[in-house]
Amino acid sequence: MYIVILAGGSGTRFWPVSRAARPKQLISVTDGPTMLQRTVERILPLKPKRVLVITNRLQAAETERQLAGYRASVPVDVIAEPVGRNTAPAVGLAATIIAAHDPEGVMVVLPADHYIRDDEGLRQSLQLAANSARNGWLMTLGIVPTSPETGYGYLEADMSLRGLGPFPVTRFVEKPDRATALAYLEAGTYFWNSGMFVWRADTILSEIGRYMPELAAQLERMTFGDVWDLADLTAQIADIYAAIAGQSIDYGVMEQSDRVQMVPADIGWSDVGSWSALPEVTELDAEGTVVANCSRYVNVDSSGCIVSGNGHVVATVGVHDLIVVATGDAVLVCPKDRAQDVKKVVEQLAAQG
Ligand code: GDD
Ligand code: MG
Repeated sequence: MYIVILAGGSGTRFWPVSRAARPKQLISVTDGPTMLQRTVERILPLKPKRVLVITNRLQAAETERQLAGYRASVPVDVIAEPVGRNTAPAVGLAATIIAAHDPEGVMVVLPADHYIRDDEGLRQSLQLAANSARNGWLMTLGIVPTSPETGYGYLEADMSLRGLGPFPVTRFVEKPDRATALAYLEAGTYFWNSGMFVWRADTILSEIGRYMPELAAQLERMTFGDVWDLADLTAQIADIYAAIAGQSIDYGVMEQSDRVQMVPADIGWSDVGSWSALPEVTELDAEGTVVANCSRYVNVDSSGCIVSGNGHVVATVGVHDLIVVATGDAVLVCPKDRAQDVKKVVEQLAAQG
């Protein structure tokens, strides 16, 4: 089994802790190991043959630094894209590299920036998915939806076969509008696509060939030596990325393919999309407050706040449901229900230069 970690996102909603060179996966939004490090630690007990991390050129050095310690347990390859082209090229590139050395190798694709409470449950789901992947299916882990979220993919599963799954996916709709998402939620037969996939390298490459022929044609130009030495690939990757368009694997393949199956995964999953998701992924104190990275937090008559202090002493007095984030050079104060708008700060900062 090969683990492919997608680690090229920009994560603007965690400003000011996340920055261009340090997006969400390279930080710890609470305390302890970063989200990327947790992603690796979770799968080590599966004893993968290799871990391939596909990231951006700007983040490659920090990604290398954070993963160096795991090389004693598993070979880790950090592959830098010259520019982000969304997830389909990243997945296709990883599949091409794996297939060149082990065509039927099973690859597990994991986003680098998700929270999972039940690590053992994740591993069991991935193993169940891998069994079907060996027979040529595109496997995804499905999450029971709890809200009409429009930022996710929705899967309709044929649940007439009972048991733990896998279940055939009869429809895959990426990022539906709000009314559609609401209808899917109420129907009760839909799952969220977790963005965690399992398939054989040759299976996904043949589906890319079918539904994304231009991407496939570029990937087919790649040549490899006998050994795993990916340092030589930089020039080839640059050429390919200059020639391809951006597309996600969800729009590019998963919506089209008739080879998709789903394993339901009740594993305490959150994609930690913004500061307001922190209460889902961490402990709350008695006042419903999340406190991260503060040397001390002093609470005078406040409740429901999310406080991140970069080692500072932080105090709140008589405020409720606020996000307060301090770093070495920036401070954010924002009502919890406006957390999605933090990305506008990044846009305005960029516009002002
Ligand atoms: N290497 C690389 N290059 N990684 C990338 C790139 C890229 O250009 N773009 C995104 N990624 C990484 C992100 O860092 C993240 O870990 C993962 O790929 C998924 O990308 P997102 O941009 O976060 O996708 P999304 O959240 O809009 O949608 C996906 O995830 C949802 C669940 O969180 C889809 O798979 C949805 O169907 C799914 O519901
Ligand atoms: Mg995401």
